[in-house]
Amino acid sequence: MTANNYKAWDVSEADYPANGPMEERLKFLLRYAILAPSGPNTQPWKYAIHDHSISVFADLSRALPFVDPSNRTLYMSVGCAIANLAVAGAHFGFAPKVSLPSGRRPVPGQDDLFPQIQRRHTTKDRYENAEIEPFILEEIERNINLPGLYLSYLPDKDAKAKMADLVSRAHQTQLAKKEFRHNLGDWLRGNWTTEPDGMPLYTFGVPDVVSLGFPAAFKEFDLSLPVIYRDSGLIHDCSTLAVLTTDQDDKQTWTMCGFALENLLLRATFYDVRASFFSQPIGLAYLREELKMQVNRGHPQLIFSLGMAKPMRPSPRRPLEDVIIKQS
Ligand SMILES: Cc1cc2nc3c(=O)[nH]c(=O)nc-3n(C[C@H](O)[C@H](O)[C@H](O)COP(=O)(O)O)c2cc1C
Repeated sequence: MTANNYKAWDVSEADYPANGPMEERLKFLLRYAILAPSGPNTQPWKYAIHDHSISVFADLSRALPFVDPSNRTLYMSVGCAIANLAVAGAHFGFAPKVSLPSGRRPVPGQDDLFPQIQRRHTTKDRYENAEIEPFILEEIERNINLPGLYLSYLPDKDAKAKMADLVSRAHQTQLAKKEFRHNLGDWLRGNWTTEPDGMPLYTFGVPDVVSLGFPAAFKEFDLSLPVIYRDSGLIHDCSTLAVLTTDQDDKQTWTMCGFALENLLLRATFYDVRASFFSQPIGLAYLREELKMQVNRGHPQLIFSLGMAKPMRPSPRRPLEDVIIKQS
């Protein structure tokens, strides 16, 4: 039997209330929105259902002031959820139109990526020793079709070494700080977690018994060495590294970036290509600047690696009732 905090993944399209009231149909789409990835699985989103539309809000009560002080990752996560919503909407016969408060309108992709929503997950443990075929990388890149947003692949050893060094320095700086460790440690979960959010340690390959004491140890001690070791593996052994950059650098751009990212991830999932993320250097102004000089294509938003990886157990999700704003 599926535990409550994993039930969101059991959604079945056969349960779509095709002949039900519009409110029920829109609510059903949200069951797919909440399966989106989010920086340490905070699921920082709220939804309001209207007559023929859904408003998506950033839930700033789930912000991480020391880990993500600008809320860049938080807004990108909201963009990921909007992407899932648009993909699910198109699949169930709506013609979804997305618009941001500025009037910018990210255009949903044309492909049916819907089946990939439930298959997608982040890889945090290790990649298989296999290269991604070039045509797949080209196809993934085609999903980045928003103006002012760029995807750069960094497949060669030299670029990987530079990124691994950048990520290591970010970990060394951040994990030396108690506030940072506490802020992130609050979102680490033991392997038998019953919480509806946060990151269960099995996703990082941590054994069950070790996972029990790990969140407390992470908060107390500087564990940058094992963290750097894990991330270095995910960087050196991936098929390619990638960086998303943008012309602008504000919360609506971050949301657009998340929208594009999730479309890219769903397309990658179709080919069993998985991603791992390295937000840390972007969270530090001086390392973000260094990365900006290296990539030379606007403001860096996210470093991630892509590789072939086996499917794994998903992470928990909050129940729909927790993220829907009740209207009077
Ligand atoms: C914008 C964004 C940034 C992220 N940054 C990191 C990161 O720096 N390190 C990491 O291990 N995971 C990162 N993640 C992955 C989340 O931890 C993951 O999405 C979440 O735990 C839910 O798991 P799932 O993606 O497998 O559903 C990021 C996800 C998003 C959307």
